[in-house]
Amino acid sequence: MNFFDLVKKRRSVRKFTNDKVPDKVIKKCLEAAILAPNSSNLQPWEFYWIKNKNKKDSIAKACFSQNAAITAQELIVAVSRIDTWKRNKNLIIEDYKKKKKYIPIINRYYNKLVPILYYHDTFGISNIVKKLFSIFYNLLGFFKPVLRSPIYKHELFEVVTKSTALACQNLMLGLVAEGFDSCPMEGFDEKKVKKILNLNRNCHVVMILGIGKAAKDGVYGDRYRIEKNLVIKKV
Ligand SMILES: Cc1cc2nc3c(=O)[nH]c(=O)nc-3n(C[C@H](O)[C@H](O)[C@H](O)COP(=O)(O)O)c2cc1C
Repeated sequence: MNFFDLVKKRRSVRKFTNDKVPDKVIKKCLEAAILAPNSSNLQPWEFYWIKNKNKKDSIAKACFSQNAAITAQELIVAVSRIDTWKRNKNLIIEDYKKKKKYIPIINRYYNKLVPILYYHDTFGISNIVKKLFSIFYNLLGFFKPVLRSPIYKHELFEVVTKSTALACQNLMLGLVAEGFDSCPMEGFDEKKVKKILNLNRNCHVVMILGIGKAAKDGVYGDRYRIEKNLVIKKV
């Protein structure tokens, strides 16, 4: 299928059939998901493929028992994290070294800039230090472009969540390419989902994907998009 046909074919499916989704399809799509572009290549995501029946039932319940969750053959919980950057940047550096491509700019980027942007402590002291520093640094902004965020934890979460959402889109398009369907959900009780998956405060549940084959009445209505001139701007 051509890419544009694939994009058009993907719909949010709220009711799935009893057809099973082969594990190899899910694996293939998850592997496509993690090829998504992501900030600084720090790959701040985790995908929890829920195989345990009790956990699956509990998560569907935490999704307010939406049809898309309770009829899904598979559930995948997409999580973004602000606490894996150190491990991941070290892995990236190791890889550069292995390939003998570890040049000073890579060292500066991953050992200086990334820690400044990503470091945070539980008590918010780093926030205060960063904010004070940024007041002076932003004065430079009168003369040249400056990087103004992330400073606060919520800005870091925005960074990691953007990347994770892109990975989710790869996953959903991959499923269409393999003849399956999905529904992204943000209608869930995040606190409950995090408890089920034992996730800490540095994690954010970005979306939960219900996956399966669309039932005949699984798509609720024709696709509607607002007039494109309202959202696509030529400037
Ligand atoms: C981040 C996100 C959260 C969503 N949450 C839900 C949800 O909780 N329940 C649901 O039925 N659909 C949910 N949707 C699906 C949207 O309603 C759907 O994408 C939109 O109506 C456009 O329809 P389409 O995906 O078929 O093009 C969500 C979509 C996204 C991207």
